[in-house]
Amino acid sequence: MSTYITTPIYYVNGEAHIGHAYTTFIADALARHARLRGSETYFLTGTDEHGQKIEESAKKNGQETQTFADAISATFKNLWDDFNISYDQFIRTTDAAHKKGVQHAFEVMFARGDIYKDFYEGNYCVSCEAFFPESQLLDGGCCPDCGRSTSVVKEESYFFRLSAYEQKLLEYYDAHPDFILPKSRRNEVINFVRGGLQDLSVTRTSFTWGVPIPQSLNDPKHVMYVWLDALLNYVTALGYGQNEALMKFWPASVQLVGKDILRFHAIYWPAFLMSLDLELPRHIGAHGWWTRDGEKMSKSKGNVIHPKEVSEAYGVENLRYFMMREVPFGQDGDFSQRAFIDRINSDLSNDLGNLLNRIIGMSGKYSEYRIDSLHVSTYHAKELADMRRIIESLEAYWSELQIHRYLEELWRLFAIGNKAIEEHAPWAKVKEGRLDEALATVALVANILAKASLLLHGVMPHTTQTIARALGFEISPQHFVRLIGEDALLEPFTIEVIPPLFPRVEAPLIAEAPKVLHGGGEAVAVQESKKMQPETKSVEGVITVEQFFAVSLRIGQVLEAEIVPKSDRLLKLQVDVGDAAPRQIIAGIREFYAPEALVGTQVCVVANLKPAKLMGMLSEGMLLAAKDERGLCLIRPESPKTVGTPIR
Ligand code: MSP
Repeated sequence: MSTYITTPIYYVNGEAHIGHAYTTFIADALARHARLRGSETYFLTGTDEHGQKIEESAKKNGQETQTFADAISATFKNLWDDFNISYDQFIRTTDAAHKKGVQHAFEVMFARGDIYKDFYEGNYCVSCEAFFPESQLLDGGCCPDCGRSTSVVKEESYFFRLSAYEQKLLEYYDAHPDFILPKSRRNEVINFVRGGLQDLSVTRTSFTWGVPIPQSLNDPKHVMYVWLDALLNYVTALGYGQNEALMKFWPASVQLVGKDILRFHAIYWPAFLMSLDLELPRHIGAHGWWTRDGEKMSKSKGNVIHPKEVSEAYGVENLRYFMMREVPFGQDGDFSQRAFIDRINSDLSNDLGNLLNRIIGMSGKYSEYRIDSLHVSTYHAKELADMRRIIESLEAYWSELQIHRYLEELWRLFAIGNKAIEEHAPWAKVKEGRLDEALATVALVANILAKASLLLHGVMPHTTQTIARALGFEISPQHFVRLIGEDALLEPFTIEVIPPLFPRVEAPLIAEAPKVLHGGGEAVAVQESKKMQPETKSVEGVITVEQFFAVSLRIGQVLEAEIVPKSDRLLKLQVDVGDAAPRQIIAGIREFYAPEALVGTQVCVVANLKPAKLMGMLSEGMLLAAKDERGLCLIRPESPKTVGTPIR
């Protein structure tokens, strides 16, 4: 079966923010996942460019509407290209082919008797581009969806007979319980329809920025209602009513939307499709909204998160992972850098990245980087069976869009790997001369990483390709069939030594959102800022810049690491800090790092410390580290730096 994935088409009244990126990331993950499973896949995104809202935004910016739309549409497309989003088509509702397709659909609906002409009198919210009967408005005539003021519209209009589809829609929801995902959102749609559907005004005469209705109706003052125009993009992109070769992808597999536009997609859209005699999408997936540090994002608060700024600071793959892992699909989520950093450091760096570093280190030491799966099933049959069980359970989460659960379960594979290393302690086996056993554990972990990278590919496409290459294979449908479908193990290979994939992040990398001040806050803020004035003269413990620069801090690379006998705390390291010879550093980090996990990694070294003796061994420097109640971690450069680079 083929796969067709769509995102909503984004309004071109402002640039993309993190909420738009979220939908697009999920859609991209679904599309990549489907391709890897060998399904012929089509992935559509684009921009929604008509309607009063866009016309007014262009006017405010003093631009021609089309020029304005061109510029903003390009910012979306460029962003998705920068993010390597694997869309097959970027549709714009101002494309000539789309307009033709929409006019064709209008004719079909009209010919069927589903569109008739009448007079509309009611309220319109320009921001939501939606009509509301008086009875639904909030106090003061405000929009029940966004709270903004609405305007009274009285004009001749064509109507779509939405009321005629009430029963058919209810029957459809009943027969297809997973049409709306997550299922928890289903009832709100059903209740809305049960409350009674009114016919929908689908043309406007008070402005011109829209698709004219077909010439055959000989009524040129009418342009189409923006939602009719916009929803039809999902089929005009496939050539509906024109060149229909791509219509083989219809019905869509998953149409992703935010919860605010679920009503349009789960009620109007299916009714339009029924009127056109087209099948309904298999699933409408409605996600929640992102806030920042608990606050709604808005331009006026100045707390909007720009996807580019975050991705440049943290990496786009980390951002994808964070957004898909952190929030259960369908629920609202909060973007906080603390939560993001925790995910990077614990899930990505500790669980996944460290596992790869450990097998690079161990295989380098014990087998010249060769890894062979030959003895894995002999020594690790239980782990293989546990892995199989987890892998088999995963697909159900994915197909229900429970991506956070999918990732949570997937991470159990890494737990198996880490546990196996701890329990089987390959370094001890090597010492006992049981090399086959030690190497089997290394190979088990390599297989865990290989299978996990295939299963994680949709979410982190680039990183998983890097892991796969280090493990001697490419992410491809063929390897998916072999390693996942047939449960095969990796062929013998030489592991590539690559720098750590997920450098730990210790502090927020982008400016924190300005705090929104509530009543009396200003006074507090002034006092706070007074308090913040550095009173250098009287504060104890303050050092001068000169004193700080007297400390030589440098980037070092760990060449060797070994346990110090008779010490629970110490490791003996040989560290290259850019001098002629490596330094010996005795560091109290044994409880927190296995020696082989350190080899090849970068550290920050205090390089001009007076040498000292520890347990009779010379120590010629110190490593920077931070320790709190959760343990100790070394401070490392965010990305690899030349050995010896001074730290300022
Ligand atoms: N143009 C319509 C969609 C037409 S589809 C035929 C539209 N555009 S939009 O640009 O306003 O919103 C696009 C998507 O972004 C919606 O799914 C919306 O839910 C989502 N988001 C907008 N702000 C968001 C957050 N703060 N968080 C998550 N998603 C949010 O609606």
